[in-house]
Amino acid sequence: MSDTDAGKIAATVMFVDDEAAVLSALRRLFQETGYNCIFCPSPVEALEIVLKKKIWVVVSDNQMPGMTGIDFLSKLRSLSPDTVRIMMTAYANLGVAISAINCSEAFRFITKPWDNDELLTLVDEAVARYDMLTSMRSRDELLYRSLAHTVELKDPYTRGHCDRVADYAERLAVAIGVEEPLITCIRHGSILHDCGKIGVPEEVLNFPGKLTLEEFEIIKQHPDWGTQVAREAGLPEAVVNVILYHHERIDGSGYPAGLEGASIPLEARIAAIADVFDAITSDRPYRKGNELEGALLIMDKLDGVLDKDLLAIFKAKVVPEITIG
Ligand SMILES: [Fe+2]
Repeated sequence: MSDTDAGKIAATVMFVDDEAAVLSALRRLFQETGYNCIFCPSPVEALEIVLKKKIWVVVSDNQMPGMTGIDFLSKLRSLSPDTVRIMMTAYANLGVAISAINCSEAFRFITKPWDNDELLTLVDEAVARYDMLTSMRSRDELLYRSLAHTVELKDPYTRGHCDRVADYAERLAVAIGVEEPLITCIRHGSILHDCGKIGVPEEVLNFPGKLTLEEFEIIKQHPDWGTQVAREAGLPEAVVNVILYHHERIDGSGYPAGLEGASIPLEARIAAIADVFDAITSDRPYRKGNELEGALLIMDKLDGVLDKDLLAIFKAKVVPEITIG
């Protein structure tokens, strides 16, 4: 388990495989992870365990006597929909993997023989996904904040970013006359806006230079990843809009949808201003935070990125009230 999980309840991860040698190898691999691991030789037995115990992640073999892994994961989905499901296939069989994803909505698949680092990372990601889903389902702002802090731990230069973005976005929403419940949605969406970064590898997030196109493509997926979980958790549409559209740009050159102008939901345009302002005024590995005046000049020059009318209100009414630490 990574240090980002320190202080949290240990995740329970179950491995299901009929081969004793496989379970022994998995036991050795996961013994120092800090996860509470269950090793189960039979899918039928595994389903009984799921009825009695909260299981965060299940890693299952496919070819097992009595029940295939695909059937097992599909049953598991109806019994415990939040449990994150990973299929392990004995062969690089794309058909089995696709069926696992279609029939049981498996999170990912991995082929045997597995690569140890790949499997450890995959389980870490699955645990993070479960944590994200249950935090979002809680409808508890404290848990949203704790989730955001977990994501920030992956990139120390963003510490406090989500709380500050939520604060700036809420102030701007109030300044333009937004009312409840939208104000709360904007605050919650802003706290959660980067939660999809939980799926971005730390070495990409922390890379102290210009990212390659491929790395940037990975980063660009974080609004979609966060949105998938937020939708599954049934969060209000305005919260989802902030998570999904906070990197859209007024001129249509943003991502993931390339929306333009007013077709970008208001809540996302508000959060984008707060996000950019905090990014510019915070220290990052590649440059020191800009002083307030310099930061506002930079924002003025970001032609086509931010909503100009909202930015004018932000400068006039919000900036004078905030202190940059
Ligand atoms: Fe983001």
